[in-house]
Amino acid sequence: MLSALASFLWVALGHQQLQMQPDPSSGVNVAMYREPYLSHDPNTRTEFLPLSCKITAYPSSGGIVLGYFSAVELAHLDLSRTKPANRSSDPVEEDDLALRMLHLGAHWWPNWQLYARHQERILEGILYDFHFPPNVNVGYPSSGKGVWVFKFSADERIWDEEDQRKPYLERKPDDWDGRINMALTMDERCDVLKDFGATFYEDVEDCKDIPTTLQEGVEEGRRYERLLKKMEDTKYVDEWLSGPEVSSDASMPAKT
Ligand SMILES: *[C@@H]1O[C@H](CO)[C@@H](O)[C@H](O)[C@H]1NC(C)=O
Repeated sequence: MLSALASFLWVALGHQQLQMQPDPSSGVNVAMYREPYLSHDPNTRTEFLPLSCKITAYPSSGGIVLGYFSAVELAHLDLSRTKPANRSSDPVEEDDLALRMLHLGAHWWPNWQLYARHQERILEGILYDFHFPPNVNVGYPSSGKGVWVFKFSADERIWDEEDQRKPYLERKPDDWDGRINMALTMDERCDVLKDFGATFYEDVEDCKDIPTTLQEGVEEGRRYERLLKKMEDTKYVDEWLSGPEVSSDASMPAKT
């Protein structure tokens, strides 16, 4: 199914060069790497993956709040770092976790399928830029003062050198996973985020990448849902990729 989709996209987006073609001889590893990012059991809360823990909350608003977190963040969320867990049957507990996850950079999605469909395309090397929620990484100093935020693009592929347009966000730094996963405390996490050039906000409400309420998180998710719908229109994608540079307004989150 992955390769059928890849060939379709290869034709549909003919002028895009996939820089990182999967090596057929490593097919098993590719599948092993991708599978956890594309399948979901709606009963699970935590699922331990090679580089992070996938956490899902099921808010009463409907949809899911999804994030990929490190050990320090699991501890911050008061979730087990040693045993996988299932969702709660208590909606209050789910709403509470959902909001705390949003405060740590997670995103609300209307359903898992929308996420998986587009994540799959990102793994295939399709550029999304501002159409897909960025990877938002948050650190709360133990002093209780302020918040560090470092975000990067969800895109797997870099833009071609000759492209006139520049991505609205940097790609994930090559040493990101190794560095951030060594932090043992929130303060160490903040130090690493700082080293990567994170922005400091004295008040978390000043950061437009972090919703204050669940409702705000849902609205931001709905905004991305509309952008992702555009990305399902081949003609739109083609025009977007070959068109002039997008105004930075188009990439601004709804929150002001
Ligand atoms: C989670 O639910 C599954 C059934 O869907 C069950 O087999 C498993 O033991 C549960 N795990 C925990 C930690 O409760």
